[in-house]
Amino acid sequence: MITRKSITIAALVLTAPAIGASEKMLFDFENYKVGDEIAMRDFYNDVTDSKATITNDPTGKSNKVLHVKNASWNTLVALPMNGMTASQMTGDYSILSFDLYRPNSETDHWRMFISRIGDDDVYFVDGEFAYQGSTGEWSTKSYVMNSVNNNSDMFYLGYNSIDMEYYIDNIRIISLNNSYDIDNPQETLRYHAEKCDINVGCAVPVWSMNVDNDSEAKTKTVVKNFTMVVAENEMKPAYVQPSQGNFDFYHGDRLVKMAERNGMEVRGHTLVWHSQIPSWISADGYKNDHNYTKEQLLKIMKDHITGVLNHYKGKIVEWDVVNECLDDDQSIVRSKPNGYNLRKSVWYNVIGEEYLDSAFTWAHRVDPDITLYINDYGADFKGDAKSEAYFNLVKRLRNSGIPVQGVGFQCHLNIGLDATKFENNIKRYSALGVVCSLTELDIAVNDKNNQSHYLSQANDYKALLNVALRNEHVKNFMIWGVTDDKSWRSDGNPLIFNKDCTPKQAFFSIRDALEDWAASTGDVILPEITQEQFETPYVDVYDISGRIVRKQLDRTQINTLSPGLYIIDRKKIAIR
Ligand code: XIL
Repeated sequence: MITRKSITIAALVLTAPAIGASEKMLFDFENYKVGDEIAMRDFYNDVTDSKATITNDPTGKSNKVLHVKNASWNTLVALPMNGMTASQMTGDYSILSFDLYRPNSETDHWRMFISRIGDDDVYFVDGEFAYQGSTGEWSTKSYVMNSVNNNSDMFYLGYNSIDMEYYIDNIRIISLNNSYDIDNPQETLRYHAEKCDINVGCAVPVWSMNVDNDSEAKTKTVVKNFTMVVAENEMKPAYVQPSQGNFDFYHGDRLVKMAERNGMEVRGHTLVWHSQIPSWISADGYKNDHNYTKEQLLKIMKDHITGVLNHYKGKIVEWDVVNECLDDDQSIVRSKPNGYNLRKSVWYNVIGEEYLDSAFTWAHRVDPDITLYINDYGADFKGDAKSEAYFNLVKRLRNSGIPVQGVGFQCHLNIGLDATKFENNIKRYSALGVVCSLTELDIAVNDKNNQSHYLSQANDYKALLNVALRNEHVKNFMIWGVTDDKSWRSDGNPLIFNKDCTPKQAFFSIRDALEDWAASTGDVILPEITQEQFETPYVDVYDISGRIVRKQLDRTQINTLSPGLYIIDRKKIAIR
């Protein structure tokens, strides 16, 4: 196989040491002669003017590549499968990868890739004209294959275009070869998380699984993979104090016992919130339908905080004291750069803003040993109005001496997120002297049937985890639920396990990131380089999701990269 300059997921997977991947080269075209023609098939007409010819590498190297000139829509290169069956190709392997070169004459950068075996789609997304990057250089393309089961012996691939010219080489399939045996500690998340300075945890839907039995499939999945848990619902005020003065800790205690049996930490969620509030306080969380006075409501709040924190003293290491106190409309930050707009909940309406100050102050008095969090959604990415408002609010509370010690980012997200904006958002909080956590992470796909969306989901999980790992003030990476079917956003399959507790790609990408981080101890590990590479003083630097970070960096400047994991010379490099 010929090494290309650009790498993506596929190359990344190949660098992962223990979990690894295996790759099968299907066509490198070296056994053809320059000038040989490869058949092309137009799926709607019998004949086609499109041509695929073997040529030399257009960048001047001596290897052979396939040169394609498309003249009609739906016309793909037709290649023999050489004895491989469709189910071997797409069942044992999951990624189709190849190197692509587009000449500078290509000005349309939005192109649609298709691959088929016989008449079944290996990769096809109707109307997906994706950005193909720059011309005049080789890059690697990777697509998650559908699994296909037919008897055809022909494999088709190419771009759906009437006027595209491209060169293609090293068509290969990759098996992520991800094994997951829950009884093998090294294949669990927890094994790797424990070597990293972060908790990887999940919300437990105590209502939908048996937390008293560690061998029940879901419970086993939780205790073997995570280092921290939070109750998805069972510690919220509506369940904990269903009528005034009557506390019910039954289900919360079951979860705490599960955690104790398995040496896990517990975070508490939540003490003061407008939602899932007992109706004896307010029917909808906004109206003061029992006409409480400010003093009465303050006492109700204080009694609740005191009752819950005393019960869980020594058992729960941190609590979301106030949840979702910001309004969705934060246009105020445009006119008032330090402004924020609080939600007009019953707490705010009756007590005023000081309900926040009181809640944290009392919580701190009842249990000074735990970390007290504020928690909110939609405040995850720097630049969004609500993110700015959140920062302003936390700054205000800290400046008033209020014991807000942790800032929770719920992170209910969708695929295609910008992890850099998240990183820029959380970085600034360390100056306020608080820790941060991703408290309720889930990442929904747009189309549950589109396999490539699950690859994006995996990349997004991994990118956020890498942000969390490299920012020391980020303490917990909490996923909001266990299996997709029981997720509160089940329409978007946003979690890392399928309903039968089998792991999704996102599970493996998280495990890879943890493993990589745990392996990258200490100082800069300088790359081993070949003589040929050594003679080029400049290198391309990729992040560990395969995205280019720095083009043609002077080799002597590698040490100056900001801390993190990179791929340089196809090897993982840790800069600390
Ligand atoms: C959700 C639960 O996941 C659901 O089961 C429940 O019906 C509603 O609440 N922000 C929060 C969480 O802080 O408590 C919410 O959890 C999701 C949004």
